[in-house]
Amino acid sequence: LENGLGLTPPMGFNTWNKFACDIHEDLVKDMAHAMIDSGLHKLGYQYINLDDCWQITRNETGYIVEDPNAFPSGMASLIAHVHDLGLKFGLYSDAGLRTCAIRPGSLGYETKDAVLYAEWEVDFLKYDNCWNLGKDLKTRYQTMSDALNATGRPIFFSLCEWGEQDPATWARPIGNMWRTFQDIRNDWNWILSCLDYNDKWHQYAGPGGWNDPDILEVGNGVLSIAESRSHFTLWALVKAPLLLGNDLRNMTSDIFEIISNKEVIALNQDPLGIQGNKRLSMNGTEVWAGDLSNNEYAIVLFNRSDKEADIVAKFDDIGIAANSPFFVRDIWMHKDLGIAHSGMVSAKVASHDVAAFRLKPVFPPTLRGKYHNIA
Ligand code: DGJ
Repeated sequence: LENGLGLTPPMGFNTWNKFACDIHEDLVKDMAHAMIDSGLHKLGYQYINLDDCWQITRNETGYIVEDPNAFPSGMASLIAHVHDLGLKFGLYSDAGLRTCAIRPGSLGYETKDAVLYAEWEVDFLKYDNCWNLGKDLKTRYQTMSDALNATGRPIFFSLCEWGEQDPATWARPIGNMWRTFQDIRNDWNWILSCLDYNDKWHQYAGPGGWNDPDILEVGNGVLSIAESRSHFTLWALVKAPLLLGNDLRNMTSDIFEIISNKEVIALNQDPLGIQGNKRLSMNGTEVWAGDLSNNEYAIVLFNRSDKEADIVAKFDDIGIAANSPFFVRDIWMHKDLGIAHSGMVSAKVASHDVAAFRLKPVFPPTLRGKYHNIA
């Protein structure tokens, strides 16, 4: 959607994965403060997104009303608090009669809702697809997109149709991101399903509109450190929204190290906005790669198998033109590995883990080919 937003994938926090309907204004404030105090905000995380269950009813004039038990100070005041910290605020609604948690939805109230969100200074809207009465999907999402646009306030629009109707193929003019699969679960194999379904649509992502394999589960227990690292790295490579789904007040240093890796975040936030994708797969080992700006590349060696494996990525085999030597940097070890002379990178990768590299051409494009023999 050309509303000037989402030129790189959004980064922030969403309440759903960890807290579901157990939300309160104090929790939201805590998350916002934790975002600042932890230093995550400085790394690019900026949205504090409230998911389902904040709304309770409509008033006599049809405007949506926040649950007074959970939000006694009112939504406007909570949003102002989040803004005062320098963060952005996201809200949730549904393109149906009710939300998935059976709170009032926006169908038929799109304009009133959009006007009120803009008045509250909402920056982001996630728009779900429950209780939709079988009405035309695109029309329902277009209606809210238009209503948001008409407010004059730039509001990032996140479509939450669960990938059943291939939103990648039609959602770009309507929204800034669209879900490509069902709800993520805190389960390794399920997370890989989210990744795989999302990969199918890689050509549709780009500045202004992103494929969304769903909110991160890093830091919610269950996943091992290797799995958490893989989850985060692959989400970053495929230009997924980096919406943290864990309790930011309370995380181990291992988890913090993963979500705060600047070099991995830089893959995600690269201005070229090309979604990395799976290039090779063999015996449960995979090579994922993506183009970055300035003729740089990202390569992720991913081991899905149950055993440690040596993974080799020959540039020729993965669509990276090897007509120039590259400087190679390991972005998990934070180490320069020198020049890749043999046209490949390789690593021993533990089960369910990744190794990730950033490739930078030794010569500028104009000199490529001409001088590559001397490298
Ligand atoms: C379904 C969505 O896919 C989830 O991300 C979450 O927003 C829930 N609905 C909330 O009810």
